Amino acid sequence: MKIAIKTAAEIAAMRTSGRVAARVLEAVCRRVRPGATTRELEEAAREEMARAGAVSAFFGYRGYPAHICVSVNDEVVHGIPGDRTIAAGDVVSIDCGVLLGGWYGDTARTVVAGAGDPTALRLIRAAEDALAAAVARAVEGAHVGDLSAAVQRTVEAAGFSVVREFVGHGIGRGLHEEPQVPNFGEPGQGPRLCAGMTLAIEPMVNERGSEVRVDPDGWTVRTCDGGRSAHAEHTLVVGRDAAEVLTERDGPDVV
Ligand code: MF3
Ligand code: CO
Ligand code: CO
Repeated sequence: MKIAIKTAAEIAAMRTSGRVAARVLEAVCRRVRPGATTRELEEAAREEMARAGAVSAFFGYRGYPAHICVSVNDEVVHGIPGDRTIAAGDVVSIDCGVLLGGWYGDTARTVVAGAGDPTALRLIRAAEDALAAAVARAVEGAHVGDLSAAVQRTVEAAGFSVVREFVGHGIGRGLHEEPQVPNFGEPGQGPRLCAGMTLAIEPMVNERGSEVRVDPDGWTVRTCDGGRSAHAEHTLVVGRDAAEVLTERDGPDVV
């Protein structure tokens, strides 16, 4: 298995892509409110990407028809923005990927429209905590399984479940590079990390069972049992002592 190590100049370029992806994500999340349509979120993302001179990493990817993914309630990932009107209390996962100067940035978060019920807030917090636990372990000498196990442990300790069919990934000149970064696994297993590897870590956390299926539209992934789902994602560089998150958010945390 060949995992690219990025040079300092390449990491500098990925910082720019990551910052833009984070800015687009913030702009979209600010527009999540009861009464908004998911198409309005798509339009906001399109405008923000154009303003930054970036293009969507997702539009046209294997034929994906939109600039971002918007996944509501029991939708896990890859929801296609459209006519849907967001209701108060909806759990809304937004995934933004951009390509800028030949480098990808990929980041996601989940917010509630209006006031969330306590379980919705705990679900989102579990996704964020799991992401943070994995980021904290993304240092030279660690194994991918250390990150995977940290995600799984955090999520299951909170009483939720991790999705197994979709995984995090290496990222750089390509949106999805090696290695795969599953959200479940065993410490010490999988490829060993070196400083300069760039990863997108993305816990997908289900309120109840981990099983998911894909809608007839060929994209929308939803839980089989109707439980809600939350998604959080950062692009980062593995460091000798600590990871550097390239998609850090400026705005205040919603939950
Ligand atoms: N959710 C995926 C990721 O974060 C990418 C979505 S591809 C798309 O890696 F085509 F569905 F948008
Ligand atoms: Co993503
Ligand atoms: Co990703």
